[in-house]
Amino acid sequence: MKKLPELKIGKHSPKYPIVQGGMGVKISGPKLAGTVASCGGVGTIASVGLSCDHPQFNGKNYFDTNEIAMAESVKAARKKSPDGILAVNCMVALTDYDRQVRSACEAGVDVIVSGAGLPMKLPEYTKDFPDVALVPIVSSLKAADLIVRKWGKLYDRLPDAIVVETPLYAGGHLGATKMENVTDEAFSLESVVPELVKYLEETVKADIPVIAAGGIWDAADMERVFELGASGVQMGTRFACTEEGDASMRFKQAYIDATEDDVVVIMSPVGIPGRAIRNPFVAKYIDDAVESRPCMAACLSHCTYLRERTTFCIAGALVDAYMGNWDTGLFFCGSNVVKCDKLERVPDIFEELLAPFL
Ligand SMILES: Cc1cc2nc3c(=O)[nH]c(=O)nc-3n(C[C@H](O)[C@H](O)[C@H](O)COP(=O)(O)O)c2cc1C
Repeated sequence: MKKLPELKIGKHSPKYPIVQGGMGVKISGPKLAGTVASCGGVGTIASVGLSCDHPQFNGKNYFDTNEIAMAESVKAARKKSPDGILAVNCMVALTDYDRQVRSACEAGVDVIVSGAGLPMKLPEYTKDFPDVALVPIVSSLKAADLIVRKWGKLYDRLPDAIVVETPLYAGGHLGATKMENVTDEAFSLESVVPELVKYLEETVKADIPVIAAGGIWDAADMERVFELGASGVQMGTRFACTEEGDASMRFKQAYIDATEDDVVVIMSPVGIPGRAIRNPFVAKYIDDAVESRPCMAACLSHCTYLRERTTFCIAGALVDAYMGNWDTGLFFCGSNVVKCDKLERVPDIFEELLAPFL
């Protein structure tokens, strides 16, 4: 029988070392996160754009409504899994990043996972919540080293775990500043996970678990990254296409229909590459002919659409995808989307993934 690592994230120990990655906008909401947590994994709510379809959102109170929606989302997930481990994924690139982090902590979440930029000030925003574990997402040892040194110097704090997400296969925004880095083997899990594990053991001399993300689909993938030294996996794409996934059925159908030729990497308005399904919207964007909705709320601290009117309003396009508007949405996906051939159930995925280990 194969051995399952024990994953301890700060004061929180999920039964199984399986983290469901945060997926915005609203692809991983309370239903998915609560179900994953109740199955013994870490369920993650994506914080981005929570107010988009909230009844109190009137077009002007986006950031205030995000806070209300955060409290409601965490409460709903907690109802599904009173004792499970719940995380909120907050992207550093968001204008209201600090407010989102604080409102997630106030709502009683166990873990904050933070990427799309380096979460340098995360310990400051969470200082009143010592039980909340802090987990940065990185794609290189260099990024992890910067965070570890800065947190140590300024806050006397270390990350409680680190997610290594490889741009080679992951979904959504990728941890690569340039297009050419997306396929660079230097950013593979095989390269980064062992060097990060060694760095944490030998240089930092701390027991900080490494969680591998990007392209994990089955138990064989899990075993492969455990052998590299990872103590857990983070999976996005497979969990998005489930009955419990919070997106519309049309979103999930797009996953089921996607073939290898449909998966593309585009430059997002955030200024970093993102992996998505080539639908009419993305095809027009690639042809430089996309028409965007107006900016929703200046939700990003750096947005090429807001600044230069090039690109498009990503919040609007991601909301459209969540709602299932095939012609106008941006359907983020990992390269494993080609393996989605049916709607799965979260408990079945857990059973299949864990079978060789239990
Ligand atoms: C639809 C979609 C949306 C995503 N949104 C976010 C997000 O809001 N924040 C984030 O840090 N990662 C986001 N991700 C990345 C996932 O959390 C996860 O780390 C990644 O997809 C793992 O790779 P996999 O899809 O191959 O399992 C997203 C991924 C997908 C597929």
